[in-house]
Amino acid sequence: PTIHYILKDGTTRAVDAKIGASVMETAIRGNVRGIDAECGGCCSCATCHVYVDDAFLELLPPPDDMESALLDAVASERQPSSRLSCQLNVSAALDGLTVRVPDTQV
Ligand code: FES
Repeated sequence: PTIHYILKDGTTRAVDAKIGASVMETAIRGNVRGIDAECGGCCSCATCHVYVDDAFLELLPPPDDMESALLDAVASERQPSSRLSCQLNVSAALDGLTVRVPDTQV
C-alpha cells in the first residue's frame, strides 16, 4: 500500500508501506518531515499527530480512550480528522491513505 503525506509546504510525499506497520513508522522510514514521534510509538507523546483525509476517516477504527486523551494535548488544533499516526496500522484497504502533517508537533 502507498501512503501519501501532505507536508507543511503543501507538497505530497508518497511512501510504500508495509502491511502492519504504523503510519508513523512508515513516515519515519520514508524520511517524512513533521512527524516527530518522540515516544517511538507507544502512544504517550502526541507528537505523531496527523490530519486524515476525509475520504479515509471512516475506514479507520475510531481512536481508543488513550489516543483520544492524548489528542486533547496535541500542539496543533485538534480537528475531527486528527489522529495519532502511531496508532494507525497499514492494511491493504488503506492503500492511498492520505494524511496531512500539522504545522507543529511541539
Ligand atoms: Fe508517541 Fe505516537 S509516536 S504518541
